[in-house]
Amino acid sequence: MPVPHLRRTSLTSGFLFLSQLTTLQTMSDTHATLGRSSVDDSPGSGEDEIVEPEQGNVLLHIISQLRPGADLSRVVLPTFILEPRSMLERITNFMAHPETLLPMPTIDDPVERFVSVIKFYLSGWHIKPPGVKKPLNPILGETFTCYWDYPDGTRGYYVSEQTSHHPPKSSYFFMAPEHHIRIDGTLKPRSKFLGNSAASMMEGIAILRLLNRGQDKEKGERYIVTQPNMYARGILFGKMKYELGDHSYVRCPENNLVADIEFKTKGYFSGTYNAIGGTIKNEKTGEVLYELSGLWNGEMHIKDVHTHRKEVLFDATHARHSKPLARPISEQAERESQRLWEPTVKAILAQNHTAATDEKTKIEDRQRDEAAKRIDEGVEWQPRLFRAVHGGPGGQDEGEEDLDWIINAEVDSHDPQTATKQILAIAPILDCQKDCSQFQIPPHASKSSNSATPALPEQDTTANTAGAASFTGENTAAPVVERKDTETQEEEEFVDAEEKQ
Ligand SMILES: *[C@@H]1O[C@H](CO)[C@@H](O)[C@H](O)[C@H]1NC(C)=O
Repeated sequence: MPVPHLRRTSLTSGFLFLSQLTTLQTMSDTHATLGRSSVDDSPGSGEDEIVEPEQGNVLLHIISQLRPGADLSRVVLPTFILEPRSMLERITNFMAHPETLLPMPTIDDPVERFVSVIKFYLSGWHIKPPGVKKPLNPILGETFTCYWDYPDGTRGYYVSEQTSHHPPKSSYFFMAPEHHIRIDGTLKPRSKFLGNSAASMMEGIAILRLLNRGQDKEKGERYIVTQPNMYARGILFGKMKYELGDHSYVRCPENNLVADIEFKTKGYFSGTYNAIGGTIKNEKTGEVLYELSGLWNGEMHIKDVHTHRKEVLFDATHARHSKPLARPISEQAERESQRLWEPTVKAILAQNHTAATDEKTKIEDRQRDEAAKRIDEGVEWQPRLFRAVHGGPGGQDEGEEDLDWIINAEVDSHDPQTATKQILAIAPILDCQKDCSQFQIPPHASKSSNSATPALPEQDTTANTAGAASFTGENTAAPVVERKDTETQEEEEFVDAEEKQ
């Protein structure tokens, strides 16, 4: 299925640069990356013009690393523009408004349903930290899982894995089984240095499925969505500023509906920040049904072209998002985002630039060593939780080729109980899920390793799961020890978690 190409505006420079400068996001989540909380209490939008005190250092810092022939992927960014969480975790912003997400499948009219999807789509862009921040680049094979507890007692589950490093691809799966909602996506951020700006071109698609709708009972009704690109302005001089830009699309092939949404970047002399515009059309007839306008971090409007009625579609001004819940770090395997990046995140939060760079570099160096080792041994890396899509005519995933990767599991489209079981079998998601407790290492091992500086996550044997064990077999220094599933051990482990703080 052809997804319209994003129009690229004024991208004059072709430097591939700051492969790190992917998204510039969400400092507001700092405590959640270390602990767990469900409701965001951070101030939402409107603070994105904070002047970073050390801003001038960005220029000096970057220039000091730019030499002829330098490996630009190795440019180290100053810590103050790092978001203390991984891109795999940052993607959950997309699902962080259950109040716009969950009602979609209940709407009978196809056009109204499409509008509800657009409302959902537009509700998440305001979630960002003050200032301009980029999330940590996930390493190959890094995974992150989490879940949301919804007010109606049901849950939404999220499973993600970094499926490629060069070029970076973050693949994810989300499902709210009782609500008939499934999302499959692969995000492929591509960085560009544009002089005084850095851009992260957000390639890749997501397919949102409403499984109770559509002709195809397995695939449901599909909404194929792309993302706006992200820009960090003023990285060399002037004020740093975060912008979303260019066109993104939401297409529903089953109902011939398409939304073309423009995230408008401010012009040099005129225009405003954070504006959106767009239309909802019938793709077959070309008839425009609605017009969209407003600010992605403020009020967004929808106007019915026939009746000229204009309404508020979503008001992001005071919108609060619901953060997902993740298992405690002590239960996570060595390559799960929060555990993997814990030392880096702590250093970022402590604003310890040297320590943050050191910790981050350790992880990146290890990844490079692993890649070199694979080449030596002629081993090809394979994602653990995702499989390549089987596209092409007659293929299982025909029309979904742009996903690249899809969750490698059968997940029932109609029976929530079966689906939930199948999802929980993919990877541990819930606290002390049977799956995880089974593979926990006895607490004594974790005590000794916690006391040492956890130089590399792999040297920390606090926990291990089936997942970490099956991870390509290399660098799994920690042996998998089957743990007896007893209450006592769980309690001791809880103590460990406390000590760790
Ligand atoms: C930063 O962290 C390192 C390593 O943990 C430590 O030795 C150093 O004192 C810290 N620096 C500051 C300014 O806190």
